[in-house]
Amino acid sequence: MTELINFTELTYADKMTVLSWRNDERIRFNMYSSDTIEESVHLAFIESLRDATDREYFLVRQDGEPVGCIYFTDITDKNAVMGIYASPDTKGVGRLLMDALLSYAFDCLHVDMVTSEVFADNERAHSLYEKYGFTDVSEKTVNGRRVKIMELNK
Ligand SMILES: CC(C)(COP(=O)(O)OP(=O)(O)OC[C@H]1O[C@@H](n2cnc3c(N)ncnc32)[C@H](O)[C@@H]1OP(=O)(O)O)[C@@H](O)C(=O)NCCC(=O)NCCS
Repeated sequence: MTELINFTELTYADKMTVLSWRNDERIRFNMYSSDTIEESVHLAFIESLRDATDREYFLVRQDGEPVGCIYFTDITDKNAVMGIYASPDTKGVGRLLMDALLSYAFDCLHVDMVTSEVFADNERAHSLYEKYGFTDVSEKTVNGRRVKIMELNK
């Protein structure tokens, strides 16, 4: 069974698990901000989500095991920008996370379109998104690295 737990409802232990993932080198390398995150900054970030209406972050559990995180930013009536990272200790959960993410986007947020922004050298993520029907629509540069902007319509 797949469960989504909102970051604002995580136990302290789960918050620390997520922090350790966010600070994993492979995950940081593929995020716009690649600095190491202090515990106090991480906890303040989670607290800031309580009042946010345009952002939602979730820990994903599969049969009780935490396997990754999915999130949405810039949420409007029509669109949301997606984000995803898998637990560094778990292999092959990309599809499970994408299934959870797209179900939430289309069935709960009721958006018509999901956008992703992926570094051009992140072949793993790019190929995963293509398998779900995302297409490249434009490019930009972030921190001197090329970013592909991809979209999926409902
Ligand atoms: C992106 C991410 C969530 C995918 O999860 P994963 O567990 O690594 O993915 P999986 O092993 O399930 O692979 C999913 C797909 O990726 C692709 N893939 C896997 N390894 C690949 C590789 N070395 N090169 C290219 N594509 C690859 C395949 O298309 C695979 O599809 P398949 O199920 O048909 O084989 C995970 O790699 C991750 O957390 N990466 C770091 C954070 C990140 O990059 N987030 C995205 C930012 S935009």
